[in-house]
Amino acid sequence: MTVIESPRTPARPAPRRGVNVEKWGWIYMRASGVILLVLVFGHLFANLMVGEGVKAIDFGFVAGKWASPFWQWWDVLMLWLALIHGANGMRTLINDYTNPGTVQKVLKLALVASVAVLLVLGTLVVFTFDPCPAGSPADLLPSFCPAA
Ligand code: HEM
Repeated sequence: MTVIESPRTPARPAPRRGVNVEKWGWIYMRASGVILLVLVFGHLFANLMVGEGVKAIDFGFVAGKWASPFWQWWDVLMLWLALIHGANGMRTLINDYTNPGTVQKVLKLALVASVAVLLVLGTLVVFTFDPCPAGSPADLLPSFCPAA
């Protein structure tokens, strides 16, 4: 006689020791989703609705926002939470659509590598952004820079 297991029976026994990556990944998707709702809609509201709205967005607008540590941290938090959220979601898709093996490993390595590069570059851009770099030719500087 064939015995059909209960639908909730895990495919493999849950690991007894160590961190349960799948559980924490699941919790991370929900927690980051809730925080991203606030960050993303706050971002859209500040950029598109406040003051002159979308017409005011230009280089000077971005320079003005990143002159404030508040918006620097807002944007960096959005970057980290969204990228890790997106990558963890992609990890799920890779697990769902590929078999364990070389292709799966290569896809996951490419995912981790691209996320690491984007996190480092994005964080550097936000925290080192200087709209008026010293020594630049005056004709390349925006009009609000003292040397322009
Ligand atoms: C307000 C912003 C966001 C909220 C509230 C949100 C919420 C969620 C939640 C709850 C899940 C889990 C769904 C499930 O397990 O069935 C999820 C999955 C996912 N999210 Fe987001 N998310 C947001 C933004 C983003 C962004 C910016 C990206 C891309 C960078 C992204 C990419 C993904 C991917 C790839 C998945 C996996 C989809 C799947 O398993 O089929 N999400 N999201």
